[in-house]
Amino acid sequence: MLNPAHIRSQFPILSREMNGRPLVYLDHAASAQKPVAVIEAQREYLMHLHANVHRGVHSLSQQATDAFEKARETVRRHLNAAFTEEIIWTAGATDAINLVAQSWGRTHINAGDVIVVTRMEHHANIVPWQMLAEERGARLEVVEIHETGDLIEADFQVKLKMNPKLVALLHVSNTLGTINDVKRWTREAQEVGAKVLVDGCQSVPHMDVDVQAIASDFYVFSGHKTYGPTGIGVLYGKKELLESMPPWRGGGEMIDTVSFEKGTTYAGLPHKFEAGTPHISGAIGLGVALDWMRGVGVKAIGDHENTLGAQARQLLGKVEGLRFIGTSEDKTGVVSFVVDGVHPYDIGTLLDPMGIAVRTGHHCTQPLMDFYDIPGTVRASFGAYNTLQEVDVLAAGVERAVRMLR
Ligand SMILES: Cc1ncc(COP(=O)(O)O)c(C=O)c1O
Repeated sequence: MLNPAHIRSQFPILSREMNGRPLVYLDHAASAQKPVAVIEAQREYLMHLHANVHRGVHSLSQQATDAFEKARETVRRHLNAAFTEEIIWTAGATDAINLVAQSWGRTHINAGDVIVVTRMEHHANIVPWQMLAEERGARLEVVEIHETGDLIEADFQVKLKMNPKLVALLHVSNTLGTINDVKRWTREAQEVGAKVLVDGCQSVPHMDVDVQAIASDFYVFSGHKTYGPTGIGVLYGKKELLESMPPWRGGGEMIDTVSFEKGTTYAGLPHKFEAGTPHISGAIGLGVALDWMRGVGVKAIGDHENTLGAQARQLLGKVEGLRFIGTSEDKTGVVSFVVDGVHPYDIGTLLDPMGIAVRTGHHCTQPLMDFYDIPGTVRASFGAYNTLQEVDVLAAGVERAVRMLR
């Protein structure tokens, strides 16, 4: 059990007022707020440790490099990856997926090949594959979902019979909260020879993730959803696979030697994929964020959010005409809903003056909105710092907003 009051005291932004009311921040799935430990780690780095990494013989550069590489090791430990070289810093999950599409994809995807995604993917795990498929003359196949927001097992098996080269699927849906059994799906996809990329944007902030147990070829997540800074994310890839892939972006940091006469040779992992000066303070902040999560207890965070989600569903379920989108039995605390005859955007707009920050719209999952035939949902998503009282405020706010709009 975590202590929400103690947790909240570590998040300065939560003592802000918004529109004259206490801020009720229920938009964790879009971006998490940051604990003091993360803010201070970045500040400390900028105040006392900043120099460019890897290139300097001077002590400050070496200290900055040590802090930067220590953060990489923290990520390795957090994901239980076998090797530190398997952790590639990226600008975020979107950047990580594009890296795989451009490096692995342009090497291995050819005309007529099949790439499998699912109906519930975030646009970040759709568009890079659409772009690649268009360029290479490949085909995108989509695993469909049940009304509950669960993937249709039989449809997945149909798609596997097409011998896909790649299966790209999310671990947890940002809109529905559905938790996919990525370990089993990875195994089944790999049995037909596919590589598997798992989008862990909504799993790493809420549950323990063991990339060796899942055994996917790639796993990606974003720092800013895991209590860390923006502009930093991670691509995990199996070492042998990453070693076999060509670099994507060229420039400094990723080379071994550069010569006009003899051409360029590339650095080894992980630097081969990290051209240019990285987001050093971001990486350090992310390492501290993951340590912070471990300190609180990753399971305790997930359990707490599930309690909030259950309470939210119970209270919101009483609002007339309200329908939940995403009712899988295996889901995280995130709560998405629509209300008959009321546009989601209008509910969000009326909640804002009450200090309540929820997200409304398609949540970068337009194909999912097409399936449910809705323009969007209202989504409340929770982090370690949210409380049952905030859920009460949300439910009362939604009730009031709906009354005003009818
Ligand atoms: C499931 C999922 N995948 C990918 C992304 C993209 O993350 P980013 O914008 O940090 O690259 C998000 C962000 O909302 C997400 O929720």
